[in-house]
Amino acid sequence: MPSPSPICTALLAAGLLASLSLSTGLRAADDVLIADFETADYGGWSATGDAFGDGPAQGTLPGQMPVSGFIGRGYASSFHHGDGGTGTLVSPAFAIVRPYITFLIGGGKDAERTCMQLIIDGRVVRTATGSNDRPGGSEALIPGSWEVRDRIGQMATIRLVDQATRGWGHITVDQIVQTDRRAAVMRDDMSRDIPITSRYLLVPIADHGPKRQVTLLVDGQVVVRNDIALADGTADWWAFMEVDAWKGRTGTIQVDRLPEDSHALSAVIASDAIADQASCYHEAGRGQFHFSSRRGWLNDPNGLSWFNGEYHLFYQHNPYGVGWGNMHWGHAVSGDLVHWRELGDVLAPDALGPMFSGSAVVDAANTSGLGTPGHPPQVLIYTAAGSPTVQCLAASTDGRTYRKFSGNPVLPEITGGNRDPKVFWHAPTKSWVMVLYVGLPHDQHTVQILTSPNLRDWTRASSVPGGSDGFLFECPDLFPLAVDGNEAATTWVLSAANGAYAIGSFDGRVFTPERTDLPSHQGGAMYAAQTFSACAPGDGRRIQIGWLRTAMAGMPFSQAMTIPMQLGLTATPDGPRLTHTPVVELEALRTGTQRIPAMILHPGDANPLAGSAGELVELRLEFAPEASSTVMVTVRGATIAYDAAHQQLTVQGERVPAPLRGGRQRLVIYGDRNALEVVASDGLAYVPVAFLPKPEDHSLALRVAGGTASIAHVEVSQLGSIWK
Ligand code: FRU
Repeated sequence: MPSPSPICTALLAAGLLASLSLSTGLRAADDVLIADFETADYGGWSATGDAFGDGPAQGTLPGQMPVSGFIGRGYASSFHHGDGGTGTLVSPAFAIVRPYITFLIGGGKDAERTCMQLIIDGRVVRTATGSNDRPGGSEALIPGSWEVRDRIGQMATIRLVDQATRGWGHITVDQIVQTDRRAAVMRDDMSRDIPITSRYLLVPIADHGPKRQVTLLVDGQVVVRNDIALADGTADWWAFMEVDAWKGRTGTIQVDRLPEDSHALSAVIASDAIADQASCYHEAGRGQFHFSSRRGWLNDPNGLSWFNGEYHLFYQHNPYGVGWGNMHWGHAVSGDLVHWRELGDVLAPDALGPMFSGSAVVDAANTSGLGTPGHPPQVLIYTAAGSPTVQCLAASTDGRTYRKFSGNPVLPEITGGNRDPKVFWHAPTKSWVMVLYVGLPHDQHTVQILTSPNLRDWTRASSVPGGSDGFLFECPDLFPLAVDGNEAATTWVLSAANGAYAIGSFDGRVFTPERTDLPSHQGGAMYAAQTFSACAPGDGRRIQIGWLRTAMAGMPFSQAMTIPMQLGLTATPDGPRLTHTPVVELEALRTGTQRIPAMILHPGDANPLAGSAGELVELRLEFAPEASSTVMVTVRGATIAYDAAHQQLTVQGERVPAPLRGGRQRLVIYGDRNALEVVASDGLAYVPVAFLPKPEDHSLALRVAGGTASIAHVEVSQLGSIWK
């Protein structure tokens, strides 16, 4: 963007520029700034309504997707009261002195209700809008321009209008300039033919760029379509589009909106390797024993299952961005729940919508008919989140190739907010059971229970109310656990995305809660956890993995999975409660273990861990604190504090109850490059947190304050990476 003469702003506001321009010595080619919204208020602009607030926005406003593309600190925004606000913002009168007015504009695409207007003699002579007219989209401001050659010499005002109150009911504008050069023209017909000679097309990504609809056609058919922030200059990173299926054919890439001089399309290249393959999984911000995807964003774990001798982890995946969107199911397999091998995505968005969360079962008796003789299928049950939002199946007999069921959907929409089917086989009633999140009007949450003989035909059996405060919102799971290993005391657990759970009984059709909304001990970093539908034969464990909300700016990937935890129920004075225990397989990560002799630790004592350090570590401690003591463990700068008086554990500010058990506390701490996971009170307290330690800080410390602690046992293990 050319830099305008600041002097002009004041002159324009007074409407004096036309007469003064020659005497102030301005060159004819100089750009003339109308507004850059860099001051605390709107200056001479006048506002009506509440939408535009008291002054320009500085960065993203609360409740808004990240705003990018504006210049400097401020820009005009009608999102000060969300989409609901309405109003106008009108500039002082100015003289048109250049053939073009250029600007940056974002928000809703509605030429009447979310727009910017050029007004001359009381008439609207030009209009511009943002580019969003459907859910999703982008808050990036992009260049626009008006040719006003025929208006030179006339007086004008600019009016920003927001009269819309629903989705995309707002507008954002910055850097309005009079100039001799028009902004690059946006074209909506840009395309390029590309011979598909290899496994991937590498696609340049600009993390904060405007998203565009990018379509790959083969033989005139749409085969891939996603919203992608294509980089037009230097790419922040390169995504890879899997195109093996069309190898040897010619593809056509189409983009819905690109500046005509864009280099984005010509930058796309065919390749058999992903970009930066050699450093992949070893980047500075990559968790070394927390699963994350090679490239792009991930959220919920999906389809956790054991099939054909492997654990399968599917996950919500955006292959083309480090933010949420374009929901695919990614896929990774493991022999031991710890070392994962990432394969390609198995479900991509289709005409029914993006691929939202769901589960997987092994249909051993081939009730679905989706297997072949001798080859029972692994069946994925997922939500296609289009309009309507429906439940669907896909199946595989080899754990590698997945085919969507031709009879999809298998369950029509119940309400628009129905999603995340978790399915399991209920042996006593010889039936498949689905727990499905169903949102009702007024933010009421329910989990509905459905049954099926064959995974294709579903009957609604019952419904569990969750209220409106977040309990039973999204991603339900329902499973039995034996209390303290006693099969006769088996109790059912119904959990949902935020980790809160109910315990009760289940007869195959109806879940009868005994206690609901038990507080989650997890803090806010873990979400949408799911348990495996089965483990290896003979392994009766119930294992859970959650989405760990952690990110590091500047990486070509974002978010991770928690380490796998074995779930249990243990009796407490309040009744049975869930416990989390890191799976025993994690021991394979230890590359060396140091044990520290038992001792009484006093306040002010030397740090017994001074001789230990590590980047990737596991610490196990057992201690009996005095009632007045706080025991503090520091791992790479993060503090884990146990306050004996309140029987409370604090992990990086996250506070949870953690009862002493027989007067003792046992802590298990895993420290990775992106996260810290802490288990206390024999699993009753579990706190995973996102954590970005300083790379050079490998220090460990153990201290006590307020009283002494009898340290029975300390074990520090260095851990290796799961990435080969
Ligand atoms: C939970 C969730 C699910 C949905 C998925 C979409 O994080 O909102 O309810 O299926 O993410 O990615």
